[in-house]
Amino acid sequence: MCGIIGYVGKKNSLHVLINGLKRLEYRGYDSAGVAFINKNNIEIIKEKGKVAELEKKIDFTKESNIGISHTRWATHGAANEINAHPHSCEKITLVHNGIIENYEILKKELKQKGYTFYSETDSEVVAVLLNDLYKENDIIESIIKMKKILKGSYALAILCSDYPNQIYTIRKDSPLIIAKDSEGSYVASDVPAFLEYTNKYSILAEEEIAILTKDNIEVINNKKEKITKETITFEGDINSSQKDGYDHFMLKEIFEEKDVIKRIMKDYNTFDKLIEKMKFLDKYKKFDIIACGSAYHVGVVAKYLIEEFANIPVNAEIASEYRYKNNFLDKESLAIFISQSGETADSIASLRKVKAEGIDTLGIVNVVGSSIARESDNVIYTKAGPEIAVATTKAFVAQLTIVTLMSLYLGYKNKNIKKDKVTEILKELDIIENNIDKLLKYDYKEIAKLLYKHEKIFFIGRGYDYAIALEGSLKLKEISYIHSEAYAAGELKHGTISLIEENTPVICLLTDENIIDKTISNIKEVKARGAYTIGVSNEEHEFLNNNIIIPKTKRIITPLLEVIPLQLISYEVAKLRDCDIDKPRNLAKSVTVE
Ligand code: M6R
Repeated sequence: MCGIIGYVGKKNSLHVLINGLKRLEYRGYDSAGVAFINKNNIEIIKEKGKVAELEKKIDFTKESNIGISHTRWATHGAANEINAHPHSCEKITLVHNGIIENYEILKKELKQKGYTFYSETDSEVVAVLLNDLYKENDIIESIIKMKKILKGSYALAILCSDYPNQIYTIRKDSPLIIAKDSEGSYVASDVPAFLEYTNKYSILAEEEIAILTKDNIEVINNKKEKITKETITFEGDINSSQKDGYDHFMLKEIFEEKDVIKRIMKDYNTFDKLIEKMKFLDKYKKFDIIACGSAYHVGVVAKYLIEEFANIPVNAEIASEYRYKNNFLDKESLAIFISQSGETADSIASLRKVKAEGIDTLGIVNVVGSSIARESDNVIYTKAGPEIAVATTKAFVAQLTIVTLMSLYLGYKNKNIKKDKVTEILKELDIIENNIDKLLKYDYKEIAKLLYKHEKIFFIGRGYDYAIALEGSLKLKEISYIHSEAYAAGELKHGTISLIEENTPVICLLTDENIIDKTISNIKEVKARGAYTIGVSNEEHEFLNNNIIIPKTKRIITPLLEVIPLQLISYEVAKLRDCDIDKPRNLAKSVTVE
């Protein structure tokens, strides 16, 4: 949430900052701003809306080799130019990602000291506070003092007019990385911001302060001792953050799903590899899966699969609830955290909570070196590559592949799936692209035309079909803004069926053969009340108004195929409604605030 890039070096900083902001826009896009130093003066330019709007206001002929910039996802105060970052107070100018929890009390104290505030943000309070502390005239000392005062989460890039060749950065519970090449030094929220210049970077730790100059990045701790940082090489390439001829990143990322599964399967495609990779699970008799949004839906699928195939109890929990309630884990339990970004605030807080209780943790994470990846006892990377569209698709499929493999392993371990069956399923997973290709060829535009003018759309299913319905519904509402709900098919009649009217679209997931007859009865109930029914199933059903056929495969693999048409239907519906598909309103890719 919110993207930061700062640069000091030989290049024109304005180009580096604007290019970087464009690549970070997935983190927030309701306003943007830059602060750069031109002839020893700090100039600030801000604008409401997307980075392209800010770009129009910038005079790129201005000379500047140092600057900081920000793309915002509003938390405190409306999305407007005044609340946009950077914020400044006298000698201090800064950009901030995170939430300052004690900003109100600090603001009151600073007002009493005579300071005036212009914005509604918590971030301006940080600029004023640091400026006030800096009166003692040692910027590093002032930053260290400020860290002791601030409560909440922050990633900060700071300019001080007395040191026009330096950028200072600190963080707590919000990500920041630093990088250096022959042309200068960079600080950013995420790698794509500077990937066109370098793929080598280091992660700033919570207790560290980085001081960037054009030739060097010095990292020190709170005692001002120097720290040597480990350099990480980013494995993707810059093209992974380009659209490659697709109209939208979302579509490109859906079409990448088969490659993602293939990449994962290289590590698991034989019985021996699966056993080797998953045997660490042997000691656990119970699992809690904790995540948010789509990642939580992966947890719900995992619950159905593991409970059915391995007969082991699984709780799938929403992280923002989990962090504030009791759990019932013990030494034989594993807490699993699923996250694309690895930076989701509620998931990190839940992870820290269970770790403090001595519970073993596993992260299933996409972004290498992210907080959840670093802080979990064990990590499985989902290898989906950078996901730019705010609505997750390929990362979801990657997470689902990992939990499918876990379920398969646990099913074998608990003697519910025999070795030859495991091998058969792995083979089928290894060639899943054939089935995915069939699904990608389908004409979803025709289905979308039936849906895009409706105000409400329902998704129903039972078992893992229900879990995938949750994801289909979230995908549709987040990018098309049509109100949608997913219901366990049998639950609808306990109230929600009252919303079904003549022609209300109901997308019916009915691939789970164990329970298909029951689902069919529920579909008939909505049909009897006038619903327009679209089936997602392994065969044509005459009683449905429309049918999307999922190629028949092994039961445990079906959710992986079943979600793809739902992603594509959402995409086509959003397109017909002329929505900003990759950057839906009010959302951000990485939710680093609670
Ligand atoms: O980065 P994470 O996987 O932890 O993010 C979790 C959710 O914020 C995320 O899945 C969100 O629901 C997506 N916008 C869904 O498309």
